Amino acid sequence: MKILVVGSGGREHALAWKITQSPLVKQMYCAPGNAGTMNLGENIPIDPTDIKGLVDFANKEKVDLTVIGPEIPLAMGVVDEFETKGLKIFGPTKSAAELEGSKVFAKQFMDRHKIPTARFKIVDNPDQAKKLLQSEEIPFPLVVKADGLAAGKGAIICNSLKKAELAVNTIMVEKKFGESGNRVIIEEFLRGKEVSFIVISDGVKVLPFVTTMDHKAVYDGDKGPNTGGMGAISPSPFVDQELFNETVKTIVFPTVTRMLEEGRKYMGVLYVGLILTEEGPKVLEYNCRFGDPETQPQILRLESDLVEILMATVEGNVLEKEVTWTNKPSGCVVVASGGYPTKYEKGKQIEGLKETADIPGITVFHAGTEFKENKYYTSGGRVLGVCASEETLASTMNKIYEAIGKIGFDAMHYRRDIGAEREEEQ
Ligand code: AMP
Ligand code: GLY
Repeated sequence: MKILVVGSGGREHALAWKITQSPLVKQMYCAPGNAGTMNLGENIPIDPTDIKGLVDFANKEKVDLTVIGPEIPLAMGVVDEFETKGLKIFGPTKSAAELEGSKVFAKQFMDRHKIPTARFKIVDNPDQAKKLLQSEEIPFPLVVKADGLAAGKGAIICNSLKKAELAVNTIMVEKKFGESGNRVIIEEFLRGKEVSFIVISDGVKVLPFVTTMDHKAVYDGDKGPNTGGMGAISPSPFVDQELFNETVKTIVFPTVTRMLEEGRKYMGVLYVGLILTEEGPKVLEYNCRFGDPETQPQILRLESDLVEILMATVEGNVLEKEVTWTNKPSGCVVVASGGYPTKYEKGKQIEGLKETADIPGITVFHAGTEFKENKYYTSGGRVLGVCASEETLASTMNKIYEAIGKIGFDAMHYRRDIGAEREEEQ
């Protein structure tokens, strides 16, 4: 088989790594890929938003299955375009991907179907937003969110009226996230642990992946601004079997079933961001794609053939029973450019990469990397994900941190407390 993976992050390297281990696969392409995927197959210089370019490539090369990493092509309707041409692709259609593409759609959907989520109001102009904030109908702290995609930066947690008014200005007046700021959601702040609950669905049935916990804040102790994710572990230490079953029953199944009933059959990854509140799990957001960096530790624990899983799902038969995972925990620590998630420099030479990747038990997934004249350079905010899966979480994390000690580039930055046990002050 020929497989095309779309994207260029650590998530896509991890997917490509597992895909190329399948005996079914003859050729893997990655569009546009990074310096890690380059060694597994062929990087193709097509941007993930160039839908026509992707369709033409898949057609010409007779690609058997395309797997989409990031949300933007999904929200643009890449799946619909592939399906029209009779090409197999893993991911939700444009109308199903609205669960991520429009927070207003997602909140109203949850409201219609009594799926537990934070209490909210939708407003479509700044005056209305300010009036609502001043009324304190939703008490502080609260969260102001842009409606559409905002690269994970469209949710602003506000402790005061002043901060909330500024957030409304940034989103609705300055239009920092463009059209995504035409409407905002003002919602209750939920207290509790955060969990990434990820399943794949064929539109009817569901295959839950092993649980994970992301670490979103840039600095140790969950300090500093949110990033795309600075590291993840699997399983999540906060999800026991009972909570797992409750989440599937009260959130995951109702979501998939109601989407089907509304004529938006949901095939692909359903990533539910949850807060474990005192009243039970509540949905923060839906994503219509694999997590990054959650995919990296999940893929390390997957024993079954990922290509068989994806193919079966596309063909309408998610392998809900057959898939196996190792019981061993796993972890991923993201090595980032200094300054990320705001301003950072690129083009720094990365030292020690080969030595690190050669350590038995260590897997290094590339994200923002580039290979030029026999050397690796940084080309993005999140540069590498150093991963392992050992007998215990402590030995896994020790191994990862020891390995990171061998990597170096100018202004390199990473969190030292991924997977560390600690009381969180929520
Ligand atoms: P979102 O863009 O909705 O995924 O939000 C980004 C991050 O902001 C989440 O991962 C949470 O850490 C935080 N967040 C968003 N909404 C809430 C909420 N209602 N209560 C608490 N934290 C939230
Ligand atoms: N790590 C968070 C996300 O993938 O959305």
